[in-house]
Amino acid sequence: MKKILAVALAALMTWTFTACSGSETTKAANTDPLIGLSMPTHSDESWIRHASFTIQYLKDLGYTKFDDQWAEDVVESQVSQIENMITKGAKILIVAAVNGEALGGVLKKAKDAGITIIAYDRLLMKTENVDYYVTFDNYKVGVAEADYIVDKLGLKDGKGPFNIELFGGSLDDSNSKYFYQGAFDVLKPYMDSGKLVVKSKQINLETVATPGWDAAKAQSRMDNILTAFYADGSRVDAVLVPYDGLSIGVISSLKNTGYGSAKLPLPIVTGQDAEVASVLSIIAGEQTQTVWKDFRVQAKACADMVDAIIKGKEVPVNDTKTYDNGVKIVPTYSNAVTSIDITNYIDLFNAGFYKKEDSVWKGLVQ
Ligand code: GAL
Repeated sequence: MKKILAVALAALMTWTFTACSGSETTKAANTDPLIGLSMPTHSDESWIRHASFTIQYLKDLGYTKFDDQWAEDVVESQVSQIENMITKGAKILIVAAVNGEALGGVLKKAKDAGITIIAYDRLLMKTENVDYYVTFDNYKVGVAEADYIVDKLGLKDGKGPFNIELFGGSLDDSNSKYFYQGAFDVLKPYMDSGKLVVKSKQINLETVATPGWDAAKAQSRMDNILTAFYADGSRVDAVLVPYDGLSIGVISSLKNTGYGSAKLPLPIVTGQDAEVASVLSIIAGEQTQTVWKDFRVQAKACADMVDAIIKGKEVPVNDTKTYDNGVKIVPTYSNAVTSIDITNYIDLFNAGFYKKEDSVWKGLVQ
């Protein structure tokens, strides 16, 4: 279903790429320059929506020339796609990196060509050549997931001990450390007091990370944990998971092992992105929570940044302290996130993020 949705969303993205011809005036090129969007993959529904909203808002501001390229999680493809954008004369690059540390060389070329570079959602690391960053509050994503676990387990009321297992994102994505740190800071006191027990003892981000944000890898890691640490009849009460794609993999593993019955209910499973499959899972009573990042807000912030850059106006940023990429602190526009579960998922529809009428929700959402 995820694939069908991805294809449908891709089909909705009907922008046209208009090449600059030699006869075009410099003025037009300056006011309506080519804008490159370098995206990590079509395989996560979220990225398709990010790009399509960004292009839509840029169109609303009057821009007409776009080049969107998709690396399908291959670093080399992303590098050569950005090289092509430079050759085509892009003036702005919006980059959501596959690997935030791997683009230094091509970003230097872009900068030398006078291009302004915006890191989109994922910070571009260890390079001077990134001008701005537009994101959600990545640390608070992790806080929201962990707060949810703390609340649902009643840890503040002294309940416990409970068993928890932890998952992290991909280590080549700089967001992963913020997500994990946010969650860890909330959970640590309860681990220290013994109210939360990680039976696998796997707690370092390096150990719990999920390379490439690959759901199959998360699923097999959960399989291994259940076999190695829970075969004695103990049960896992909560699983910290940083992204919906992985949550679905973790839930499959749990169900394959017998969780999901009255006798052995599924544990609390968190997530992020409010993807369709996960909202359906929440409605079905399987995934417990997700973090909603209203991509429209981020895409609009990005479009406003681009507009300000092109018009030579002050670029809107609201965080000049947090996002240190190892070489510089990148001026950032950071957006707020919302925790979603069965009690408030309807907000996604009330806000128009999803539409009740769409066939995928038929009969499920009143
Ligand atoms: C992160 C992003 C998340 C999620 C994840 C997996 O960088 O912030 O929202 O999409 O990648 O794609």
